[in-house]
Amino acid sequence: MNTVNYAVVGTGYFGAGLARILHQLESARVVAVYDPANAEPLAEELNCDIEPSIESLCSRPDVHAVIVASPNGYHKEPVLCAADHGKHVFCEKPIALSYQDCSEMIRRTKEKGLIFMAGHVMNFMNGVRTAKRLINEGKIGEILFCHAERNGWEEAQPEISWKKIRKISGGHLYHHIHELDFIQFLMGPAERVCMTGGNVAHQGEQFGDEEDMLFISLEFPNKRFATLQYGSAFRWSDHYVKIQGNLGAILIDLQDVKVVLKTPEGEERFLLHESKEEDEDRTRIYIGLETDGAIAYGKPSLTPPMWLNSIMKKEMAYFHSIMQGAEVEEEFKPLLDGTAARASIATADALTLSLAEDRKVSVIEITGREAAAQ
Ligand SMILES: NC(=O)c1ccc[n+]([C@@H]2O[C@H](COP(=O)([O-])OP(=O)(O)OC[C@H]3O[C@@H](n4cnc5c(N)ncnc54)[C@H](O)[C@@H]3O)[C@@H](O)[C@H]2O)c1
Repeated sequence: MNTVNYAVVGTGYFGAGLARILHQLESARVVAVYDPANAEPLAEELNCDIEPSIESLCSRPDVHAVIVASPNGYHKEPVLCAADHGKHVFCEKPIALSYQDCSEMIRRTKEKGLIFMAGHVMNFMNGVRTAKRLINEGKIGEILFCHAERNGWEEAQPEISWKKIRKISGGHLYHHIHELDFIQFLMGPAERVCMTGGNVAHQGEQFGDEEDMLFISLEFPNKRFATLQYGSAFRWSDHYVKIQGNLGAILIDLQDVKVVLKTPEGEERFLLHESKEEDEDRTRIYIGLETDGAIAYGKPSLTPPMWLNSIMKKEMAYFHSIMQGAEVEEEFKPLLDGTAARASIATADALTLSLAEDRKVSVIEITGREAAAQ
């Protein structure tokens, strides 16, 4: 197998984690990194080059694929630059903070016939795959409704991370797009949406400017619905997705970690991660006092916990297999051309408009506007 050379843009908490994983895969090598502040330690550790700019990194003839793990609002430039230089792309979530930007990134990668994989890592969780299998086997019948919560409490911050600045992170909804993306994977794209909420308890210098409570409702064709809650103003933290079918239901609990299938015959339990040890470790971290609940944030000085590192490994192994020529399965095609990620951002944009204008919004107002502008 030919060696695939990777270059990484943004080597903080996640980019460094992805780079370390890639570097350990067979026939994979990280040859260069770019980061305006944190490149040196990782470059030294992996014995790779530091590039002075995104352009110089993407134009290297020895680079086959670029991993983009810069802050959310700074994904577009490296993705477009990689595309212009004919490099495949893996881009962290959210791939962008507007439907328009997603479309431009998709168009430019598609024009060159490149892979543009979104870092929607939930797709690689054992329990998520189990849930999809159970649904495909008809165990819960038809999905009528989904509900997700991802919330916790944020204390005053000694310094304000970009993850708390709405313009760069997108706020809780965009930054934690995973649950919305997963629900749309199960139910298809939402048609009409509504969001209420605001910044209710985190004003002032020790906090960012994002909304700390978001209440979302999604309407799908044929009277199917979903609701989601996000935020950092919840003293009682929660992190789960509940899938309600007409024959049964599935709980994916990402805090008190477990996956449960409930049918009239009784309950059956499954692992969320690869092992009991990983599930217990995640529960310990979330239930203990180490985080602010499901809204815990990494920073460059930290390394991902065992359970997260394990799904990142699966995600990178998958991307690497595609780089080595493996065929993309039907299920993952929208994940590998950016379109699933764009569908999530379209809904997030519609929700943002709903909150701003205090009304229910059709997602086509976002996707249609863009199509009309082309
Ligand atoms: N999939 C997941 O579960 C998951 C988890 C954590 C983070 N992420 C995503 O990974 C990305 C990075 O997050 P993180 O947790 O590593 O943040 P981080 O703050 O730890 O690291 C970000 C890095 O980007 C660098 N940077 C800043 N501006 C840049 C620019 N213009 N170009 C290139 N690099 C720049 C910073 O110096 C820093 O080293 C984000 O998109 C985030 O949403 C995904």
